[in-house]
Amino acid sequence: MLEKFIKDVDKGLSSYEKSIPSKYFYDKNGDELFIKIMHLPEYYVTRAELEIFKHQTKKIITALEINTKTYFQLIEFGAGDGLKTKELLRVLDKENYKFEYVPIDISQNALNSLQKKLSIELPNVSIKPKQGDYFEALKLLKDNHHPKVVLFLGSNIGNMTDETASKFIYRLGAFIYPNDKLFLGVDLIKSQSIVLPAYNDSQGITKDFNLNLLKRINCELDANFEINNFYHHPEYSEKEGVVRSYLVSTVEQNVSIKKIRKVYKFKKGEKILTEISRKYNDETINEMIKKTDFKIIEKLSDSKKYFSNYVLVKS
Ligand code: AVI
Repeated sequence: MLEKFIKDVDKGLSSYEKSIPSKYFYDKNGDELFIKIMHLPEYYVTRAELEIFKHQTKKIITALEINTKTYFQLIEFGAGDGLKTKELLRVLDKENYKFEYVPIDISQNALNSLQKKLSIELPNVSIKPKQGDYFEALKLLKDNHHPKVVLFLGSNIGNMTDETASKFIYRLGAFIYPNDKLFLGVDLIKSQSIVLPAYNDSQGITKDFNLNLLKRINCELDANFEINNFYHHPEYSEKEGVVRSYLVSTVEQNVSIKKIRKVYKFKKGEKILTEISRKYNDETINEMIKKTDFKIIEKLSDSKKYFSNYVLVKS
């Protein structure tokens, strides 16, 4: 893990256009900041998807083609605090569906607290958390032939480039069987006046989330990033449908990372790309899915048309 972190940071900071992979946001502090982001007034993403789970639960169940007689596995990638999924679990439980819930997350901490919460709120739901890599965990489930539904919510797919996202979904296809489902949550392209504040909130939580990356490198890779010499700067292109979040160097400076045994030079105004957050429309989704073994069978959207959940079936 540390070796990979070192390699990724060195590769990103040695490039002509500097970058650091956004997956490194999520240490303990980053997890906590992201939970705060999800509750921010400007961050519409979580609320829009929650509205779909709350008000269209029956429609979700119908689209997933599940019934109360057939046992199935409800698998979730990056379950987090399970806020949205709980809405679905509650109805499945009440209506006597036979299933087990398998949240997969890299963070054992997140899984423990989710399991604890669910055992109190929904004691009849069987929960089998799996810690680690999504595909490693899926491999363990491949031996049984129970129908599977994979949830990948929160527009997490949007933190990948379109090419990587397509490959990811294609790869997922190899771990499940024909007729299994993927329930994919994506944020939609909309105007800058709505999107940009979601990535530049007035309380500065997203700024702290972005800068936490440098704090993490300072801590884990023994670096001397001067946090005050960088500022958070998101850019959004509605035409492309992409938010790019940057950390911008306010001065010309050198940063030493002892665990890499290198010094990196920053010009005044030089940017580090730390995250892309893709926003979609039907055209971009179709383009992405075209290269996979999945077909779209249903689409659910919130009342403001900010967010959609696509139901895909493996062919
Ligand atoms: C996890 N992911 C979908 C979030 C997003 O909207 O791209 C991460 C995030 N970055 C800044 N705010 C939220």
